[in-house]
Amino acid sequence: MRFDVLTLFPPIFSGYLEQSLLGKAIERGCLDVHVHDMRDWSTGPHNKVDDRPYGGGPGMVLQVGPVVECVEAVKKLSDEPAELILLTPQGKTLNQRVVEEIAEVPRLIVICGRYEGFDQRIIDILQPTELSIGDYVLNGGEVAAMVLVDAVMRLIPGVLGDELSNVDDSFSSGNRLLEFPQYTRPRDYRGWDVPEVLLSGDHEAIARWRAEQTVDRTKQRRGDLLTEENNPGEESQ
Ligand code: 6GU
Repeated sequence: MRFDVLTLFPPIFSGYLEQSLLGKAIERGCLDVHVHDMRDWSTGPHNKVDDRPYGGGPGMVLQVGPVVECVEAVKKLSDEPAELILLTPQGKTLNQRVVEEIAEVPRLIVICGRYEGFDQRIIDILQPTELSIGDYVLNGGEVAAMVLVDAVMRLIPGVLGDELSNVDDSFSSGNRLLEFPQYTRPRDYRGWDVPEVLLSGDHEAIARWRAEQTVDRTKQRRGDLLTEENNPGEESQ
């Protein structure tokens, strides 16, 4: 899968892209991330890509020309059809279902916003999928882009060591609820014991206990996830 990330701050991505799991996946060719500086498509002086809002008000607005022209040029770098994503707090909220859909496409072009926002014509012309990572305000889309790349790349075959290791993850397609608690050695730490059932060797009992823990935990922490669709057969609260 190919990612093209359009940003005004390319250096933000370098450390992140070299980190262990992602760096190794890139080395193995499972995914390919290209970062582009939208300032390279500036037409004004000093690589300027933002200007004051028409009608007045505080802050600066990302200009239509550099963004549209950068997207057009980046599209041409590969023949793969790309889904265009614009990261903005006004977008649809990202969740694991959306991540799973996105992981199916061969190529993503991701635009990171900055400043007070985008010239509306960027959205009108490019018709991107607008995504947000939650109901809070970030200084720009860069952190959100890293969240998106991180969540999507875990679903690309070959990226995780064990192909099955994302199936039981909280919110993943095998499990829309929260994950059960895990334990490892030692059995006793300062009198805090590992639950007996996990030491029993009774695989059915262990599976039952884990299923119960999953539902109990989700009830306690995230009752909103206990829908019929996520948890067939169980009563919704
Ligand atoms: Cl995608 N961008 C910004 N600037 N703030 C956000 C966001 C994105 N998602 C949540 N807050």
